[in-house]
Amino acid sequence: MERSCLAIILAAGDSTRMKSSMSKVLHPIAGRPMIAHVMDAIAKTGISAAALVVGRNADEVSAAASIGGIAIESYLQKERLGTGHAVLAAREAIARGYDDIIVAYGDVPLLTDAPLRAARQGLADGNDIVVIGFHTDHPNAYGRLLVKDGELIAIREAKDATDAELAIKWCNSGLMAINGRKALEFLDRIGNNNAKGEYYLTDLVEIARSLGGRAVAVDAPEVEMTGCNNRAELAFIERLWQERRRHELMLSGVTMVAPETVFLAYDTVIGQDALIEPNVVFGPGALIEGGAVIHGFSHIEGARVSAGATVGPFARLRPGTDLASGAKVGNFCEVKNGKIGEGAKVNHLTYIGDATIGAGSNIGAGTITCNYDGVNKHETHVGTNAFVGSNSSLVAPIRIGDGAYIASGSVITEDVPADALAFGRARQEIKPERAKAIRERALAIKAAKKGGH
Ligand code: UD1
Ligand code: CA
Repeated sequence: MERSCLAIILAAGDSTRMKSSMSKVLHPIAGRPMIAHVMDAIAKTGISAAALVVGRNADEVSAAASIGGIAIESYLQKERLGTGHAVLAAREAIARGYDDIIVAYGDVPLLTDAPLRAARQGLADGNDIVVIGFHTDHPNAYGRLLVKDGELIAIREAKDATDAELAIKWCNSGLMAINGRKALEFLDRIGNNNAKGEYYLTDLVEIARSLGGRAVAVDAPEVEMTGCNNRAELAFIERLWQERRRHELMLSGVTMVAPETVFLAYDTVIGQDALIEPNVVFGPGALIEGGAVIHGFSHIEGARVSAGATVGPFARLRPGTDLASGAKVGNFCEVKNGKIGEGAKVNHLTYIGDATIGAGSNIGAGTITCNYDGVNKHETHVGTNAFVGSNSSLVAPIRIGDGAYIASGSVITEDVPADALAFGRARQEIKPERAKAIRERALAIKAAKKGGH
């Protein structure tokens, strides 16, 4: 039978070292608040409910944590009296009674579901406390795990540790699983008689044991337990996240020529055999289908690039862009809310906004869809197999029919029927010999000025 599980996420810290006007768990990793990454890992462990313990920016933190699919309740911890005190802010939720309780921190965005699952398994195996530990060469201020005969006998906070205990390199990540049926009994016994005068959640190990319970520790990769305390650590975590995700994508069949220069968003999807050249940046909402090619220095956000489509170099795809198969958007082009049909080409120096370009059409260099009148946005529709000559302005709202032809340099303000040719420019005039006459007059003026000196 499924065991019920309550996840308690501690996010009430002051974030002092972030030197920020907002809670640190709201700072983004890969374009998504840290807390949402944590919630994602938690959601994957199959929990029944989540209790979020919040302090500053309570409403924003709760909103950022609501990733869908899980029910979240927020509990305000008014005073920061320690991790044990923080967990008890969710007393009401704990009192409802769950088989398992997992405690996680909101500032460990590299967390995956694997350690949480291992901890829950430990409870299912009959343990009362399962602490998630990690090995590190820099144990610094972390709590140390004291283990004897396969059981965890205590967690010692660095400030309370002896020299021998400080030499231990197996550390407390802070994350743990607790027998939900005994949790309140344990938690209510935590005191604050220690070096920091705080209510330590870590005391649960000794408390559970004193009541005849059993505690163990499971090991997790150090990377996943990396917490964020300042902006330098924020950048470090971003780097680790990017490295991990690029690696996954390459192993799934994506070619990256210089992966260290490609930046992904939390939800970037790239299909097999896609080629991503150097210096490409993905914002949220990018879907690159298999076999698409993204040339260097392109920026892609909220856009779908179909199989066989080509983007860049130096292209910008903004939200609402949809390139059909074989479509091309070339250098120094920007597309916003634009659908580019199958095999259509937008190759050079062009802005396509609020527009649909039909299959097989060619949009010449320097074409601009004039979609904004200073107040409202308007749409441009170009049919199939149309040809828009270079340096044309398409003043929206406007429709260009299938197979129509727009002369270069046109300013098109009226709809163009299918297969019609439209000129929207001054007619060219030729004045024979006139250039020569102008030049000779200019030279005469120059000579007269010199003579005057
Ligand atoms: C805690 C652990 C330590 C572990 C380390 C891992 C305790 C006593 N110590 O120490 O063994 O190695 O984490 O990072 O648990 N928080 C609240 N309210 C509070 C206090 C903390 O919400 O009153 C939150 C913080 O925002 C943070 C987390 O709990 O996300 C950990 O708190 P922190 O004060 O950083 O604990 P450490 O002293 O680092
Ligand atoms: Ca900490």
